[in-house]
Amino acid sequence: MDLPFDGAISAFYENDAPEDIRQAIRRSDKDDILSPSYPHDERLSRKTYERDYERLQIEMVKLQSWVRETGQRVVMVFEGRDAAGKGGTIRRMRENLSPRSARVVALSKPTETEQGEWYFQRYIKHLPTAGEMVFYDRSWYNRGVVEKVFDFCTPAQRAHFFEQVTPFEQMLVEDGIHLIKFWLNVGRAEQLRRMLSRESDPLKQWKLSPIDVKGLSKWEQYSTAIEETLSRSHTPETPWTVIRSDDKRRARLAAMRHLLHRFDYPQKDAKAIGKADDEICGGPEIWD
Ligand code: ADP
Ligand code: AMP
Ligand code: MLT
Repeated sequence: MDLPFDGAISAFYENDAPEDIRQAIRRSDKDDILSPSYPHDERLSRKTYERDYERLQIEMVKLQSWVRETGQRVVMVFEGRDAAGKGGTIRRMRENLSPRSARVVALSKPTETEQGEWYFQRYIKHLPTAGEMVFYDRSWYNRGVVEKVFDFCTPAQRAHFFEQVTPFEQMLVEDGIHLIKFWLNVGRAEQLRRMLSRESDPLKQWKLSPIDVKGLSKWEQYSTAIEETLSRSHTPETPWTVIRSDDKRRARLAAMRHLLHRFDYPQKDAKAIGKADDEICGGPEIWD
């Protein structure tokens, strides 16, 4: 089978990646964490992960029962660079939830009709009704980051987006929607390692897109756009929760812990949930 994009990821790795990134990948063992600033050297052991994961799943089910019985509406936004682990985190969070009331919204690029609409319009269509939890795998924050990096919007459209995003989110919150915004933060070497693994694995190739390939040489542009987006859309009522996702297992546990601690549902077992690791889960100050 042909590699998608003619092996563009390995070509980038061999010819264009910065030397320190290339070395970090070349010298790494499977369980090594590649970001020098990540607070742990090795991935969490499978044993610890599976034990904690099991406990958290039970709490997720309790949370969903309460959401359904009391008609809560929950919106979770998942943002982050390509291969940050958004899709995988969502999948684990939903694993034991009813698919009907725990929906995923992963929109493709806007159609011509959608381009003529108010920017937020196509996202609003998918907001939850009473009893639902909605996971946005990417969101209206495309305008803050990917649309900026690839010139998919004008500077005026982006400026307008930043004026509207906080009032927009505040309206959701004032209407009683629980809004949780997750920013998954992945380091450059880990991102590239994941993309190389996607390129060589027939079961993962579907995750790669032309944007991912072109984006590899735009790391700094992404960084600038992300910093700006985080600082302009983090407010006390609509805060970002940044999760360092170089270790996917720790990231998934942290996301669930954070979510569960936001709610007070019947039979909540705070001890089973445990504390989210505050070195990898915090506000925009831990973004790296
Ligand atoms: P994903 O990482 O979600 O699998 P891509 O990497 O292909 O998808 O694209 C990243 C994001 O950029 C997606 O949300 C996609 O809808 C958006 N996007 C791609 N092309 C355009 C475009 N021409 N205009 C606006 N948004 C776009
Ligand atoms: P997967 O999530 O199984 O699709 O794995 C995609 C890539 O992430 C592969 O390169 C794996 O080696 C890597 N990977 C697997 N487990 C972890 C983990 N706990 N932390 C970081 N990366 C991982
Ligand atoms: C992720 O890994 O962050 C998501 O699945 C999106 C992607 O494919 O990059």
